[in-house]
Amino acid sequence: MRRKIVVGNWKMNNTIAESIELATEIAEKAGSDGVTCEVGIAPAFPALYEVGKVIEWSGVKLAAQNCHYENDGAFTGEVSTRMLAAAGCNYVIIGHSERRQLFGETNATVNLKVKKALAEGLRVILCVGETLDERERGVTGEIVTAQVVEGLADVSDISNLVIAYEPVWAIGTGKTATKEQAQEVHAMIRARVAKLYDQKTADHLRIQYGGSVKPSNAVELFAMPDIDGGLIGGASLKADDFMAIVEAAG
Ligand code: PGA
Repeated sequence: MRRKIVVGNWKMNNTIAESIELATEIAEKAGSDGVTCEVGIAPAFPALYEVGKVIEWSGVKLAAQNCHYENDGAFTGEVSTRMLAAAGCNYVIIGHSERRQLFGETNATVNLKVKKALAEGLRVILCVGETLDERERGVTGEIVTAQVVEGLADVSDISNLVIAYEPVWAIGTGKTATKEQAQEVHAMIRARVAKLYDQKTADHLRIQYGGSVKPSNAVELFAMPDIDGGLIGGASLKADDFMAIVEAAG
């Protein structure tokens, strides 16, 4: 049985003080009895360390939204996995579609980051997903497969990795993939991972869905056999909405 995982991706929102307030509220609720899924939050870089301190007792995991693949050096504006681990991060989100679309990340750079983060002892949330144009052209399978295969090139152990399937057309748009559309891609990803590794590895892999997940649609999405939780953007900025989604995951 895979333990579901729900992570709030706060994106470029919240100052340190605002992050501490939201994180405290989430930790109080998530740290109480009755929450069985794994819960994580991904504040912006400046807030990571302070947020880590206020959630530590609760079991809520700390995630970063990006990393670089070198340890240190002349990379103005970048943050290394070594720094993230030292700041208390458990997870790092890699290859989010906003990074791919707005900041030029490719499957090759995503792969470098995945390898670096895992080697540093961080857990990875590897994001994949097709654009609307790709879905309409009928190439969703090819695009997502390439993102998985190339993102995981030369990665021998994925026990510390989660995949997030996030159709780009569903992110921040209010358009959720139907549970059937999401399930179809999740099953395809799992089958592909079974081919790349083995069935046992694929059966253990958690695959989150992301893209306009809300309290009102979380239950039906999380009930699908290959959907193992969610990566939540907009709805993770309000503690009540986020916790309702967490509760939907069990
Ligand atoms: P959304 O974002 O929930 O606001 O659609 C999801 C994500 O980008 O991770």
